[in-house]
Amino acid sequence: MASTWFITGTSSGFGRHMTELLLDRGDRVAATLRNPSRLDDLAAKHGDRLWRAQLDVTDTARMREVVDAAFAEFGRIDAVVSNAGYGLIGLAEELSDEQIERQIDTNVTAPIQLARAVTPHLRAQGGGRFLQTSSMGGHIVFPAMSLYHTSKWALEGFFETYALETERFGIRTTLIEPGMVATDFYSSADVAPSQLPAYAGTQAADLTHGKSSVALEDMPGDPRKVAEAMIRIGDLADPPRRQLLGSDAYRLVHDALKARLESAEAQYEFALTTDRDGFVPPQA
Ligand SMILES: NC(=O)c1ccc[n+]([C@@H]2O[C@H](COP(=O)([O-])OP(=O)(O)OC[C@H]3O[C@@H](n4cnc5c(N)ncnc54)[C@H](OP(=O)(O)O)[C@@H]3O)[C@@H](O)[C@H]2O)c1
Repeated sequence: MASTWFITGTSSGFGRHMTELLLDRGDRVAATLRNPSRLDDLAAKHGDRLWRAQLDVTDTARMREVVDAAFAEFGRIDAVVSNAGYGLIGLAEELSDEQIERQIDTNVTAPIQLARAVTPHLRAQGGGRFLQTSSMGGHIVFPAMSLYHTSKWALEGFFETYALETERFGIRTTLIEPGMVATDFYSSADVAPSQLPAYAGTQAADLTHGKSSVALEDMPGDPRKVAEAMIRIGDLADPPRRQLLGSDAYRLVHDALKARLESAEAQYEFALTTDRDGFVPPQA
């Protein structure tokens, strides 16, 4: 069972709930966030078991300093949770260059750099857990969220590979894939600055400009239950490479993967047409 945790993005949502739940059960947490005063209440209640560091995850140099300081403080960290992230809503053509860069810096580059920063420490201590908050949106797509999906699909590719490379050191990686959960995620989302008339009346334009988004009270997920589930996964001796959370995540990803498998199988004969003459393909 993990007992010392490092978590990014602990000011609200899953990160904040995890920090509260872990401290309540007696664990130690290295909590990082942009504004550490957001955890003053937990610091007053839990004392030394909560270690806080100011961190904007897009500052890679600062991230390395904070990671090194956290391992120096606790000696050992059992589980690292790369949770910080936000949504970007808007048609691909409407988004500004700066919005695209900030989304990729925060949701893709930062988790990759966090993994690179903690790996030497996890290797030296004989392993640990790495939990990366992905999304059902790392397997499926909705209109008007192309850059958010880009970020989560990118994480799926990076961490699948990272897991293969680091399992030999006892590092076990899990991609956490929630469905829709009522957190600050939706109110904090960045939105395209302009509306292009060419897309007026499309589902993507309506989603971007708030005409048909799902109300918070209609979302299936409970943020505290998601945090509890993430802790359970961090505690597992043999954690899964990926974990769906929520009935919506299960249904939508299940149906999308089934459709992709059927499509791939239908392409079998055509795919083989480009093998060199005489090549014998391995049997499926
Ligand atoms: N809620 C959902 O429906 C849902 C579904 C699937 C996946 N997720 C993923 O779950 C993760 C957590 O989201 P949440 O739902 O808990 O939303 P949230 O309450 O908005 O939490 C997001 C956290 O990320 C932090 N953050 C954003 N940019 C940061 C930066 N540059 N540096 C440091 N921290 C930063 C925020 O800090 P500040 O307070 O400083 O902004 C906040 O602590 C995200 O990666 C999100 O993509 C959410």
